Amino acid sequence: MKNNAGIIAIDGFSSSGKSTMAKRLARNLGYIYLDSGAMYRAVTLYAMEHDCYEPSGLNVQRLLAYLKQIHVTFELDADQRPLTYLNGVCVEDTIRSLAVSEKVSQVSALPEVRAFLIEQQRALGNKGGIVMDGRDIGTVVFPQADVKIFVQADAAVRAERRYLELKQKGQEASYEAILKNIQMRDHLDQTRSVGPLVKASDAWVLDNGHMSLEEQDQWVMEHVKQVLWQK
Ligand code: DC
Repeated sequence: MKNNAGIIAIDGFSSSGKSTMAKRLARNLGYIYLDSGAMYRAVTLYAMEHDCYEPSGLNVQRLLAYLKQIHVTFELDADQRPLTYLNGVCVEDTIRSLAVSEKVSQVSALPEVRAFLIEQQRALGNKGGIVMDGRDIGTVVFPQADVKIFVQADAAVRAERRYLELKQKGQEASYEAILKNIQMRDHLDQTRSVGPLVKASDAWVLDNGHMSLEEQDQWVMEHVKQVLWQK
């Protein structure tokens, strides 16, 4: 049996546990993990830090003029945990704040931002040996991906998880605000005209609302092995 260095696309709703699942899968397979959402979050943070927000909202033209100056990279820490860097500065925690979460849907709906980041995602992943998570990985970024998984769970379950995660990190959190944010992002992700969140026709669906991490790992490995080891 041979493990071809494949491309694994994991798409799904906000806070559905995609990243945790994708990271664990990448570690089990010895693949690279890439969090495409972190790239959209980093661009949003850049906009927030560079006067792109006016009282009337996002100044799109200003952000687009800055795009070429935005460099998002990833580095592993001592525990092999991938950290996101924005122009050389680690922004891993800042990009997960509610302030960024509240603005990222608008930024990620801009076609120019998507084209800019998708080009980088393809360059990072097209040699294979990668697990990438996001919203459009199996549909737009890598429609030829070897394995596609679409993750979903009830919005209340996802809000509860996110709430506990932020509290654990010592960040301010309100369950109601998080739930509202998740519902808003679900809506915006699914209805934007470019790269909307849709299940690829050849994706496997995983509803992990009532699954333990171990059950999820087992489910994923079984599906991935079926494809990668039999090629
Ligand atoms: O996965 P996440 O919640 O960290 O993603 C942050 C936002 O970025 C999310 O609201 C949707 C957007 N996103 C996207 O549009 N396309 C991707 N491939 C990944 C994320």
